[in-house]
Formats: sequence, C-alpha cells, structure tokens
Amino acid sequence: MLDKTGFYYFSPTGGTKRAGEILCGGIAKDVRLTDLGQRDQAVEQPDSDLVVVAAPVFGGRIPAIAAERLRGLDGHGKKAVTLAVYGVRAYEDALLELNDVMEACGFQVTASAALVAQHSIVPEVGQGRPDKEDETEILDFAKKVLDKLEKDTKDPIKVPGSHPYKDGMSMAVSPISLPACVQCRKCAAICPVGAVQLEKDAVVTDPEKCILCMACTAACPEHARILPPPLQEGMVQKLGALKDVRRENEFFL
Ligand SMILES: Cc1cc2nc3c(=O)[nH]c(=O)nc-3n(C[C@H](O)[C@H](O)[C@H](O)COP(=O)(O)O)c2cc1C
Repeated sequence: MLDKTGFYYFSPTGGTKRAGEILCGGIAKDVRLTDLGQRDQAVEQPDSDLVVVAAPVFGGRIPAIAAERLRGLDGHGKKAVTLAVYGVRAYEDALLELNDVMEACGFQVTASAALVAQHSIVPEVGQGRPDKEDETEILDFAKKVLDKLEKDTKDPIKVPGSHPYKDGMSMAVSPISLPACVQCRKCAAICPVGAVQLEKDAVVTDPEKCILCMACTAACPEHARILPPPLQEGMVQKLGALKDVRRENEFFL
C-alpha cells in the first residue's frame, strides 16, 4: 500500500468517482481528491509519486472539459493510472485519448482500465454498477498495480482506440426545468461548464455550452430537471437492448 495518491476525476453523476475511489482505496492509505468538475477551482499539482485519473466516456471520447483541466497538470515523470468509465455501450477512443493527454502532460501511464458504471442517461443500463463483483476485480487490479510499481518496470501499455479519434459529440440540446423547480440554483452551481443561469425567476440553459453531462439532473432535489422527453425516449430506444448485457471491465498493465 502506498502512503498517498492524488485522485483526479470528472464525475457529473458520481459513477466515475465511485469506480475510482474503489481503486484508490486499494492503492493508498491517503487519497487526495480533485474534482475536475468544479469550475472556479484551480487544479492543484500532484504531491504524490502516483496519480489516479478517471473520466467518463461521452460519445466514445473523454469530455473536452476534463481533458482541458487535466492539461494544466505537470507530470514531471510521475506515474499515472488512468480509468475510462463507461455505461456498457462502448469506450472506443476514450482511454487512448486520456492516456495521450496524461503523457502529453509528462506522466508515465503505468496501468489503465475501462470500467463499467451505470449509464447516466439510461440508468437501467448497467444498473447498480460498479457492484460487488466489480469491486473485487478493481481491488485485484489495485494489487497488480502495486506489484508493477514495486518492480518499477517501464513496459509501455497499449490500450484500444485509434488515431485520429472519432469526432466528439455535439448536440445543441440541454436539460429542461419542470414547473416543480423551486429555483434553488443547485443546477447552476453544479454545472461544470457554466451553462445554467437563473434569469428573471427562470432557469435558462445555454444549449451551445451544455455538454449533456447530467450533473444538473442528478443534483436537482425536486427531480425537476430532465432531458427533453423526445431525447430521453430516443436514448432509451437506442440503448434499451443493453440493459441485460453484463459488459466486463478491462485492465491493461
Ligand atoms: C452525454 C453522454 C454520453 C455518453 N456516451 C457514452 C458512450 O459513448 N458509451 C458508453 O458506454 N456510455 C456513455 N455514456 C454513459 C457514461 O459514460 C457513464 O454513465 C458514466 O459512468 C457516467 O459517469 P458519471 O456517473 O461519473 O457521470 C454517456 C453518458 C452521457 C451523459
């Protein structure tokens, strides 16, 4: 077990954070958390020899805002374990992209994983994941990471994905607020890209800025923040067949 590790994560609805915290718990006694979704907070440099970095998969890529915030890190040859966390469909170029970002910052990526979590738009897909079985696999991976660090092998790891990456998602739509909204502003406060404002007693969302991350819908205490019903229904149609699929986690060392 290491004394400490830094854990950098972008996790609008909590699945990515949960998966990463399981790993960190198996790697170090002291875990210093940095939430890349907090928009007015500077991203501090790591003070440990190893960092764990986790991002959710959006349209087969990592969210641009997460990549942008990670680019402020200075690795100086420190080691990184990277996690792409996805909702059963596919992670495509996301893990490769995350590794490229970390290497460009000067980190040496020593291990990676593509982990499955509940789908943040269609929660019936991957429901309850990461679960007990995932936890056992992730903790086993933690042991292997510690072994690799101990041996100090520099073998480069290879993860799936290709260059150029697939095009990023772009949909000029955003969640809406229902009449049950009490204007508590939690949606505006949590939005990682500052797309949500309260204007003249109405919640206004800029669809050009919104990345559909679902942080605002998850944070709404009144359950008054939803995707426009046609979009939600379209996603259920598209992904519903995956609700009985148990996709395996993948580990790269
Ligand atoms: C806008 C958006 C795009 C997504 N794209 C994918 C995808 O391409 N493949 C996939 O398997 N899951 C996809 N998901 C599901 C998320 O990757 C998954 O639910 C992840 O755990 C969300 O992380 P969070 O709980 O930390 O917010 C997407 C979710 C959102 C909100």
